[in-house]
Amino acid sequence: MIRSPSREHRLSYAARPMAERSSQAIAILGGTGDQGLGLALRFAQAGRPVVIGSRKKEKAVAAAEEVRAAVAGAEVDGYENAEATQRAPIIILSVPFEHTAGTLKGIRDALSPGQILVSMGVPLATAVGDRATRMVGVWQGSCAELVADLAPEGVAVVSAFQNVPAHRLRTLDAPVECDVVVSGEKAPRKAVMDLCPLVPGLRAVDGGPLANARAIEAWTALLIGMNIRYKVSEGVGFRFTGLPDNSS
Ligand SMILES: NC(=O)c1ccc[n+]([C@@H]2O[C@H](COP(=O)([O-])OP(=O)(O)OC[C@H]3O[C@@H](n4cnc5c(N)ncnc54)[C@H](OP(=O)(O)O)[C@@H]3O)[C@@H](O)[C@H]2O)c1
Repeated sequence: MIRSPSREHRLSYAARPMAERSSQAIAILGGTGDQGLGLALRFAQAGRPVVIGSRKKEKAVAAAEEVRAAVAGAEVDGYENAEATQRAPIIILSVPFEHTAGTLKGIRDALSPGQILVSMGVPLATAVGDRATRMVGVWQGSCAELVADLAPEGVAVVSAFQNVPAHRLRTLDAPVECDVVVSGEKAPRKAVMDLCPLVPGLRAVDGGPLANARAIEAWTALLIGMNIRYKVSEGVGFRFTGLPDNSS
């Protein structure tokens, strides 16, 4: 849900020095991890400026160097999470579910109205020491709705990419044959859907309102179980049938 910014937030935003921001940039917080680095590599390969965020700047800088080594001409930089947040209109949260609230707390003051925050987290039961094939309940209904609850007013939250396997993202010479269900308010949802075709093989599917993230997040636990049962170490994805050709 996009809420209009409160007066306090508008004022604190106005008083804040604006970091250099490219309208094409994509920031990935936790971009040092498996999934975040995979997305960073793919977006950089597609020619988009990428900003990698980490709790530690030197870790983000090292991850950015890794992307540059793998993708010739990549436009990528690494910063501490709050600084990275200020450098892109779209920010992907790529930290394990149990660190979602803590990470958001750390970047809350760096966010500004109009930015889009992408929730990719899944409340897997590993958060409480149980199995990755099970989920834990979230009061708000899903990780994405938790993020929306914690995000400042005026920041749109969109759910996406939960079911894209990291291993396939990081295998740069092969397409990632997978549908991505994107949920949230219409305009920011469209902006995030537009990121999907940057990765060869990824197709965006319009997932409607943010509450539908409940269904999509739950699929992740199912897919992890399928990876185990079918012994697919690269990770299985899914495709919808019957959608019109121009659906994404
Ligand atoms: N792995 C997959 O195949 C996959 C697929 C689809 C979706 N996802 C989702 O993508 C997100 C990231 O998954 P991942 O496998 O990349 O996770 P990960 O490698 O375990 O962790 C990602 C990053 O989270 C940060 N982090 C770790 N501990 C933290 C803490 N205590 N507080 C704050 N940040 C912390 C770290 O970044 P810094 O140390 O640099 O801060 C780390 O590099 C998760 O929400 C996951 O559900 C993963």
